[in-house]
Amino acid sequence: MLKTRICNIELRNPAILAAGVMGSMASSLNRVYCSGAGAVVTKSFSLEPNTGYKNPTTVEVTGGIINALGLSNPGVDNFLDELRAVEDDVPLIASIYGASPEEFQEVSSRIEEYVDMIELNVSCPHAMSGCGASIGQDPELTFRVVSAVKDAIDVPVSTKLTPNVTDIVEVALRAQEAGSDALTLINSLGPGMRIDIKTARPVLSNAVGGMSGPAIKPVAVRCVYDVYRAVDIPIMGVGGIRDYRDAVEFLFAGASAFQVGTAIMYSGPVIFRNICRGLKRFMHEEGFSSIDEMVGLAHD
Ligand SMILES: Cc1cc2nc3c(=O)[nH]c(=O)nc-3n(C[C@H](O)[C@H](O)[C@H](O)COP(=O)(O)O)c2cc1C
Repeated sequence: MLKTRICNIELRNPAILAAGVMGSMASSLNRVYCSGAGAVVTKSFSLEPNTGYKNPTTVEVTGGIINALGLSNPGVDNFLDELRAVEDDVPLIASIYGASPEEFQEVSSRIEEYVDMIELNVSCPHAMSGCGASIGQDPELTFRVVSAVKDAIDVPVSTKLTPNVTDIVEVALRAQEAGSDALTLINSLGPGMRIDIKTARPVLSNAVGGMSGPAIKPVAVRCVYDVYRAVDIPIMGVGGIRDYRDAVEFLFAGASAFQVGTAIMYSGPVIFRNICRGLKRFMHEEGFSSIDEMVGLAHD
C-alpha cells in the first residue's frame, strides 16, 4: 500500500531521511533504514573537507531549532567509504554541495556508481559565501549547476530549493529546464537568530542559522503546493513533519514522497515506522489504495 517510486527508484514507503540528521555515517544511514525509512539522504558533502562553524551550532526555539553547522563534512574522498558501506538494499540519495557548477559536477561524477540519486544542495541558508542558498536564490546559477551535473552523470538528480526567495516557482522551473529529475522542497528557512539575554549576544557562533521543525511546515507545504502546479517532475516535500497528518498534507499539496529531519532529534528514528503506520491507517480509513492517488489532491 505504501510502496511508491520516485524517478524509477522503488521505495517501500514514501518516508525519507532528510539531509543533515543521522546522515554522516553508513552505520546511522543503515540504522535509519532498519527503523522503517523508505530511503535515506546523506548529510551534504563537498569536494574538499570543511570544518564548518564553531560551537554552538544549534539552538532550540519555539517551534523548532535554528542550526548553522556550516556544512561541515570530511570531503568526498572520505565520504566515499561511507557510501560504499551502506547496505545494498537501502535506496541511497547523496546530498552534495559546491561553490561552482564544476565542483558539483566533479563530486557527482566521483560518487555516481555508489548512489541511487543525487540531491543538489543549492539552498543551505548558512553556507559559506558562494555555496548553498546564494546559488539557489539565482535561477540562472541554479540552471548552470543542474546542467553541469546532468551533463556528467546518469543517476537521477533532485534539486533542493530554498524558500528564501521571492518566487520559488521561477527557480523550480529553471531547475526543471536544466534537466533536474525531481525537486526537494524545502531547505531550512531563514536565516533566523536567537539572542542570549544574559550575554546580549547571538547564541550561535555564526549568529544566524536555518530554521527547521514544526514552525516552518506551513511555508514548506505552500512551496510544494505552488511548485506542483508549475512543474512536471516529482517533488519530495520536507519541513516540519512530525506525524502522518503532516505527511498527508505534503502529499495532498503535491509531494510524491516526504523527508523528515528535525523530528528525529525528538523522537528518534522510530518516527519513520510510526509515520508509516499512521499513514497506512489513514489510507485505509479514507479509502486510498496507493500513495499516487493522494498526490496533489488539494488541487482538485
Ligand atoms: C541539524 C541540521 C542539519 C542539516 N543539514 C543539512 C544538510 O547538510 N544539507 C541539506 O540539504 N539540508 C540540511 N538540513 C535541512 C533539512 O534537510 C531540512 O530541509 C530542513 O531541516 C527542514 O526539515 P525538518 O523541519 O524536517 O528538519 C539540516 C537540518 C538540520 C536541522
